[in-house]
Amino acid sequence: TTEVRVPASGLVVLVGVSGSGKSSFAREHFRPTEIVSSDACRAMVSDDENDQSATPDAFELLNHIVGTRLRRGLLTVVDATNVQSRARAELVSLARRHHALVDAIVLEVPETVAGARNAGRADRDVGMTVVRRQQRDLSRSMKRLRKEGFRRVHVLDAGGAPPRVHIVRER
Ligand code: CTP
Ligand code: MG
Repeated sequence: TTEVRVPASGLVVLVGVSGSGKSSFAREHFRPTEIVSSDACRAMVSDDENDQSATPDAFELLNHIVGTRLRRGLLTVVDATNVQSRARAELVSLARRHHALVDAIVLEVPETVAGARNAGRADRDVGMTVVRRQQRDLSRSMKRLRKEGFRRVHVLDAGGAPPRVHIVRER
């Protein structure tokens, strides 16, 4: 079991392609109210969590909730792919504005594994083209991730059984 230390009243940014297990990981380690998911936000503003036209509105809502929680000193976990630097930069700057620490947790999986998991999902139809594009964005990101303002970047091997980690909330 690996210890993953996260800021007790800060921000945790999950990073991983579709099918990497972000939502499963969040559910296993954090309280439901601590998790702010882009899919849930998309559903709230469109009745359909797969409606991509709702993405800008969904992220505006996500940022609003994250900002409010950080202002209130609540641990907040962002469940979105965050494979693009622009998405992460927005979250890092939101944390800065609220004087909150921000950690990243990267769930690494081979794209074949992510593809196979997605193929078996009833809730979503994410094709290999999308996973490959996300994987390319993520690979490009890995080098610069540590320079983007995260206090810590935790990289977990999520290609098999759920990573065995113990989350420690650091005050
Ligand atoms: N899964 C798995 N083994 C893991 C993690 C997840 O078999 N170690 C399965 C889940 O049961 C689910 C699928 O893979 O059926 C996708 O997992 P999920 O946590 O939903 O992945 P996300 O990264 O949240 O995908 P998305 O970005 O599309 O929301
Ligand atoms: Mg998910």
